[in-house]
Amino acid sequence: MSKELIRLRNVSMAFDDELVLNNINLYINDKEFLTLLGPSGCGKTTTLRMIGGFATPTSGDVLFDGVRINDVPPHQRQINTVFQKYALFPHLNVFENIAFGLRMQRRPDPADPRKKTKIPEEEIRERVIEMLEIISLKGFENRRPDALSGGQQQRVAIARALVNKPKVLLLDEPLGALDLKLRKDMQIELKRIQQQVGITFIYVTHDQEEALTMSDTIVVMDKGSIQQIGTPEDIYNEPKNAFVADFIGESNILDGVMHEDYVVEFFNRKFKCLDKGFAPMESVDVVIRPEDIDIVPQEKGQLRGTVTSVTFKGVHYDTIVDFKGFKWLIQTTDYHPEGETIGIVLNPDDIHIMRKSEYSGMFGDYSSYSEEYEEIGGFDGAEEAAREAGHEE
Ligand SMILES: Nc1ncnc2c1ncn2[C@@H]1O[C@H](COP(=O)(O)OP(=O)(O)OP(=O)(O)O)[C@@H](O)[C@H]1O
Ligand SMILES: [Mg+2]
Repeated sequence: MSKELIRLRNVSMAFDDELVLNNINLYINDKEFLTLLGPSGCGKTTTLRMIGGFATPTSGDVLFDGVRINDVPPHQRQINTVFQKYALFPHLNVFENIAFGLRMQRRPDPADPRKKTKIPEEEIRERVIEMLEIISLKGFENRRPDALSGGQQQRVAIARALVNKPKVLLLDEPLGALDLKLRKDMQIELKRIQQQVGITFIYVTHDQEEALTMSDTIVVMDKGSIQQIGTPEDIYNEPKNAFVADFIGESNILDGVMHEDYVVEFFNRKFKCLDKGFAPMESVDVVIRPEDIDIVPQEKGQLRGTVTSVTFKGVHYDTIVDFKGFKWLIQTTDYHPEGETIGIVLNPDDIHIMRKSEYSGMFGDYSSYSEEYEEIGGFDGAEEAAREAGHEE
């Protein structure tokens, strides 16, 4: 898992003087499931095409096993690609679709290595059957593509790309054409196939949930640059900037000031947090995930606000709460009706601090900020808040 297989070193790509990839540095380990995630136009497909050999970087290097492969054509790389439009051959059955690449192949003849020979029919049969087992489509070998569901067709496309035993499979939004339920099934199926075959998958999507479900490593991109590389947990729990925090799930993002290590101020009050290493009084972005916020009776809250809308989402309610003009999204399984005044409690690990970036102020705001925030509690949390609230009454 830890051996490096592919590296992009200082890779940039320009089309007509327009920079679409800006100094990409990335390595991909053998047997890793790595996902390039980002909005439309951020450069995901271009990155994948450079790894596959369909595009050459304007500057920088693509390395495979430590060897520069910038100029190696696609068919000489140990890399195969599955595209979103996975055109299967309509006139060939499932077996022949998968066998196609093997039938085309010529390799040195064991009897006379100077000569090239076809792969024997028996071996083709074995390898196709093995693939059918991997994609759970045994018994389907005689079906034509038009007699398969979308998900089954996609699995055949994957088998066709895997049968040549590449070291790396590139997948560019391969589930884009499928409906939501099928997509979710196929996500699990793809992950299983990757683990069973034991090769590297480089996967492109703009769907954050898909990336979180399948990946060992996620590379978040925007505007031709890598914003963050990490495990799904890293990316979700420790986003580097407001772009990542917003792109991966819902986030309330507030302006804050780091007073000292582990102490942040926002909404005119101080909170304990787990972050350190900032300059004294450094301005920061504070991320609070909607599902981390505990709603408590108003007199027990560190902050107090009024519910302005509630939307039932199946598992939870999306509850918008107005804290004197600044609206937060809170996700809770308890129903709090519109108009109710509630309290909230934030524990230190519910608060995540990010450095200011070019994305500060652009995301994570469920309304506009108001200065007139009413402070109801002290630094030490709920009990003190409750005591103070008691004084007011
Ligand atoms: N051959 C090309 N000539 C000119 N510009 C291109 C070319 N290919 C890509 N681009 C531009 O490069 C940028 C990145 O494109 P790319 O296809 O890599 O984005 P993407 O992240 O895959 O987006 P999507 O999610 O929409 O597929 C875009 O602005 C696109 O218009
Ligand atoms: Mg693309």
